[in-house]
Amino acid sequence: MKDKYSIVGPFYDLMSIIYSFNQIDKCKTAMHDKIKPDSKILFAGVGHGIDAIAAAELGAEVTVVDLSETMLKKLNKGIAKKKEFKHPIRQLHKNILHVDEFSTYDMVFANFFLNLFSKERLEQILNHLIKHTKKGGFVVIGDWVFPQGNMIAKFFQILYWRMADLFFWVVANNELHPFYDYQQTMQALGLKIKKVKYFRVLFDDRYCSILGQKK
Ligand SMILES: C[S@@+](CC[C@H](N)C(=O)[O-])C[C@H]1O[C@@H](n2cnc3c(N)ncnc32)[C@H](O)[C@@H]1O
Repeated sequence: MKDKYSIVGPFYDLMSIIYSFNQIDKCKTAMHDKIKPDSKILFAGVGHGIDAIAAAELGAEVTVVDLSETMLKKLNKGIAKKKEFKHPIRQLHKNILHVDEFSTYDMVFANFFLNLFSKERLEQILNHLIKHTKKGGFVVIGDWVFPQGNMIAKFFQILYWRMADLFFWVVANNELHPFYDYQQTMQALGLKIKKVKYFRVLFDDRYCSILGQKK
């Protein structure tokens, strides 16, 4: 299967640092205070995996999944720079929908992952991630904030997001779609929203990390 991130993959994190003034990286680890040593954590569409490495440094048992060999190579470069973890990071080079480890994980992360997909597929994947979470466990989504504020604020939020959306549509063939309200989708799929942390760029909130609990 073609690696959609073969061109842009090596520069992905650098671009996101520049584009977001480093707020995306902060967003990706915003809920790490919930991670306990030896807890089982799954990262879907892990990319370069600064969030997964940070979780492993906290002593968690981390599994990462990604379809892109390019992205996993970058993850491994990141891992090589670190000392040994209590639990080595387990890597699955496959489609998240082909992972079948239901009710296994204390926390499941989907950071800047679900925005790749159409609404129908997003719901299918999020449902799949919820099935991987233990009862009482957490699902974390880090992504763009649903546009809020007055019309001008909303216009600039959508413009800012669309630039990235169109760029990844061209270079990685991601799907074009309307803005997603992740909180609403999480609730609709049965998660209880426990916490939301926001991250600003210039005048308003651009990213958020949402902690949902499986009932
Ligand atoms: C936009 S990147 C985000 C990477 C990372 N989570 C981050 O926050 O920087 C999306 C990642 O999801 C991976 N991906 C796309 N579809 C996937 C699928 N069906 N299963 C697993 N990984 C997938 C891509 O290869 C890419 O590395």
